Amino acid sequence: MCWLDRTAIKQIIKLRDEFNISTFIETGAFMGINAKFHSHNFKDVLSCDIKEEYLKIAMEKIKKLNNVFIEKKSSPKFLKDFIKNYKKTGRKDTVFMYLDAHFYDPLLPKEDKWVVQGELKSLEGFENCVVCIHDFDNGLGHCNYDGEPLGMNVVGGLLKKVNPNFNFYTNELATCDIIEERDVKSIKGLSSDTETLDNIMYAHSTPRLTYRGILYCTPKPLDLNKYDLKKWN
Ligand SMILES: C[S@@+](CC[C@H](N)C(=O)[O-])C[C@H]1O[C@@H](n2cnc3c(N)ncnc32)[C@H](O)[C@@H]1O
Repeated sequence: MCWLDRTAIKQIIKLRDEFNISTFIETGAFMGINAKFHSHNFKDVLSCDIKEEYLKIAMEKIKKLNNVFIEKKSSPKFLKDFIKNYKKTGRKDTVFMYLDAHFYDPLLPKEDKWVVQGELKSLEGFENCVVCIHDFDNGLGHCNYDGEPLGMNVVGGLLKKVNPNFNFYTNELATCDIIEERDVKSIKGLSSDTETLDNIMYAHSTPRLTYRGILYCTPKPLDLNKYDLKKWN
């Protein structure tokens, strides 16, 4: 839910401009709020989810937008299919990969509990991307499944297989700028609908949910004078 943090949005826009990105790929559409929001920032937005109940809400939210496509597909397959098509059409542009299909499912076998690992395996060798992992453990709010936090322990080795030259950056508490319910009306791409307002209320229920860790992986180093980010190893 990066749309909650004005600073995160600014970093994404700066990365878009620096790497000349027109396609925003999201895994985990949830209620479609983020996909709808980024339809105003990118030429195309592609997203996916596996849960019918969320897809129904998400599809309703984007029905009037002609640059947002949400598929019912598991994210590793969704990314594999995207890359297949990308290569087939001879594309060379950089795309933004926003990985956010985090959902703890106690019924999943241990080796499948981190969906993000399956996603990164699908991206192996695909160097034309900026990867952004939401809910990353940089000391801010993050995913933690069965006592294992979502850090480099979970994704580091796989990220190196996506691009061995990736540079890693992360956000900081001091620069988070979280929106409140009253801000929604003035932010392009957001609406005062029940789902958006509920998500904002939920995010403000405890600091762990308000301030979320984000990892940014870029194919070339960033000039940190231009970004509100710090280097992460
Ligand atoms: C944290 S939410 C995503 C929030 C959304 N990106 C936003 O910014 O509002 C995680 C979503 O991932 C979905 N999900 C879980 N496993 C998935 C998978 N294997 N493939 C695609 N989506 C998945 C869940 O159904 C849930 O809607």
